[in-house]
Amino acid sequence: MSVHTEVKRISVPQLMAYKGKKKIASLTAYIAPIARLLDDYLDMILVGDSTAMVGYALPNTLTITAEQMAFQAAAVVRSTQHACVIVDMPFGSYQESPGQAFRNCAMAMSSSGADGIKMEGGAALAPTTRFLVERGIPVLAHVGLMPQYVNTMGGFKAQGLTDEAAERILNDAIAHEQAGAFGVVLEGVAEGLARRITQRLSIPTIGIGASPDCDGQVLVTEDILGLSGARIPKFAKQFADVGAVIRGAAEQYATGVREGTFPTLDNCFGVKKS
Ligand code: KIV
Repeated sequence: MSVHTEVKRISVPQLMAYKGKKKIASLTAYIAPIARLLDDYLDMILVGDSTAMVGYALPNTLTITAEQMAFQAAAVVRSTQHACVIVDMPFGSYQESPGQAFRNCAMAMSSSGADGIKMEGGAALAPTTRFLVERGIPVLAHVGLMPQYVNTMGGFKAQGLTDEAAERILNDAIAHEQAGAFGVVLEGVAEGLARRITQRLSIPTIGIGASPDCDGQVLVTEDILGLSGARIPKFAKQFADVGAVIRGAAEQYATGVREGTFPTLDNCFGVKKS
């Protein structure tokens, strides 16, 4: 007989129903210990491709693969039971065609157990959103500053600063909503534009460096914990200095090793010398 323990985590439809009623609190997680600690407090955990920069010291997010994302998402799913888990699809894994997107998204979801996917792109990607949603893949769209477009954007720059650019981003968000996306991440756009998009859409907007008036917020966890080195963006408040805690523990450990007070079988378990 097999015993199956059902995990009742927040679902995508539940997140959608938060619109106008409850703000969505979201952070990134890429590994089990962080996901486990965050789970109780969040509505959504994003297994972001920012792991490439934060976790692997790469200069941008372009080199991570769908298989690597799926592997990290599986660790996050295994160690959580409350938050909805969304896996970020990396550069090159969905832009070629809706069919390519479906194959990689289905692989990422079925091998990890994640509840949905996120992908970056404007209105040109809306047909792919429709294709995925019609085949059972919940899509969180990501517009505005899209780190996977760093080479075409010429860097990580705020977006939508002219009337024309703002209009384009609004239309990008509307196109994804019409295609069936369950939400839209608005990254690095002016506050007024984020507010306008939030009021215009009937699906939740999740802001990052956008506006407190978005329907939810997402940040990179390492940024708010003081674990990102010198790379913290201006909009990310540091809520704790976990870096200092880790340095303190490492120092105590190293001192113990050098002074010979490192725990051994003898002094931990009272093993008698023969
Ligand atoms: O990769 C990521 O972590 C992200 C966000 C922070 C929105 O896309």
